[in-house]
Amino acid sequence: MIQVSEPAQPPAASLADAAVQLAQLPRYRRWGTLTAVRGAALSISGLGNRLAIGDRLQVERPADKSGPSAGAPVVPCEIVAFAADAAIAVPEGPTEGLAPGARAWLEESPVLYPNDSWLGRVVDGLGQPLDGLGPLPRGRRPAPLRQPPPAALGRRLIGERLETGIRTLDVFTPVCRGQRLGIFAASGVGKSTLMGMMARFINADVIVVGLIGERGREVREFLDRTLDQAARQRCVVVVATSDQPALARRRAAQASLAVAEYFRTTGRQVFLLLDSITRLAHAQREIGLAAGEPATARSYTPSVFTELPALLERAGPGQEGEGDITAIFTVLVDGDDHDEPIADAVRGILDGHIVLDRRIGERGRWPAVDVLRSVSRALPRCHNADENALLADARRLLGAYADMAEMIRLGAYRSGSDALLDLAIQRQPGLEGFLSQGVDERSTSEAAFAQLAEILHP
Ligand SMILES: Nc1ncnc2c1ncn2[C@@H]1O[C@H](COP(=O)(O)OP(=O)(O)OP(=O)(O)O)[C@@H](O)[C@H]1O
Ligand SMILES: [Mg+2]
Repeated sequence: MIQVSEPAQPPAASLADAAVQLAQLPRYRRWGTLTAVRGAALSISGLGNRLAIGDRLQVERPADKSGPSAGAPVVPCEIVAFAADAAIAVPEGPTEGLAPGARAWLEESPVLYPNDSWLGRVVDGLGQPLDGLGPLPRGRRPAPLRQPPPAALGRRLIGERLETGIRTLDVFTPVCRGQRLGIFAASGVGKSTLMGMMARFINADVIVVGLIGERGREVREFLDRTLDQAARQRCVVVVATSDQPALARRRAAQASLAVAEYFRTTGRQVFLLLDSITRLAHAQREIGLAAGEPATARSYTPSVFTELPALLERAGPGQEGEGDITAIFTVLVDGDDHDEPIADAVRGILDGHIVLDRRIGERGRWPAVDVLRSVSRALPRCHNADENALLADARRLLGAYADMAEMIRLGAYRSGSDALLDLAIQRQPGLEGFLSQGVDERSTSEAAFAQLAEILHP
């Protein structure tokens, strides 16, 4: 249906008047109709054939069903699939009160317009401020929520080593400019704390933090406790908490990338932290199931495994003349199952993974990085020969100790039986000390390697 209201305008006296009158003309709006609601899927017909996946709609709630307690007068939705005679949309909010025949219409797709004044601010996936610090100035450059990654051959290669400020990482899993790594850990093993340390210590121009599907309390804690004032000032934080609809959670992840991309195009070195990819995968699963996709392993739908690479690939080095997005994504590995489908998929996409182990934390060693199971694909290129030799020595000793740790603890190992193991036992306290670091203690790679040399070759 097409609804047109007749304007009653006097003739325009000048071009400027005509422009004003033109702007005041009521818009043509094409209405569609809500024909069915099945679970989280709305069927909408009558909107013609110019629709596409990802388009946004508004569906009207009847006047007597909206209000402060019943909900907003319109429910925003996004098209996620098409049936033979209808578009299938997922609502972004409660569907109470929606009735067959409700009017639906197309909305502009959201585009962010970030600029430098966004630094220090907290926003949602639509770029609306959440920090009560007033409206956000609008930049000139649009930053689309969905965007293909830069062309593979047009991108720079991964750059030189960055200082993360964390000894263990700088030595064992170094992070280079434009590299993308995952932090893999079960819940409560220190992912957010480690991310916070990096946000405070790393040498980057801009930090973008995406908090996706976290509990509200965690967001407050991260902003108020984990980040300090100085870190906040070079940070843009994009948030969608766990109580928000799946579309809003996915959009916040896309918005984090969009904001990071804006700063990358302006030549800045951007450090992106996204917590967590698992919760993003859960959001995509909800959307996929509503769209009627089949469920595969652990009920994840196929689109989860196409959306994840599409998003993660957007981070990374920029083209000539641009900056880079160095990124850390957290992955929650339920019950320490590192082979679950999301961990498996993400590990394949990224250029390295940092594994945190609950048992290490329980022993009192923080950050609880399991260096033997962590990998950075920037190695060995990013260390010099001396550094690589130290790293290899340390790994050999830590590996030898780990293999026999149980025997050693039980007192079943007799010293003198194995020279390497004897040395490993001797060096173990020093190495454990090296791998422990307080949350406020910042280190440099140079100091870290000097300390390691001192421990290994006293
Ligand atoms: N570097 C550290 N030093 C001391 N304690 C730590 C450190 N990192 C984490 N912890 C302890 O582990 C707890 C959980 O840490 P954190 O919130 O960072 O974990 P998480 O993996 O992000 O958890 P969740 O899965 O719930 O998001 C902290 O409250 C703290 O007690
Ligand atoms: Mg956390």
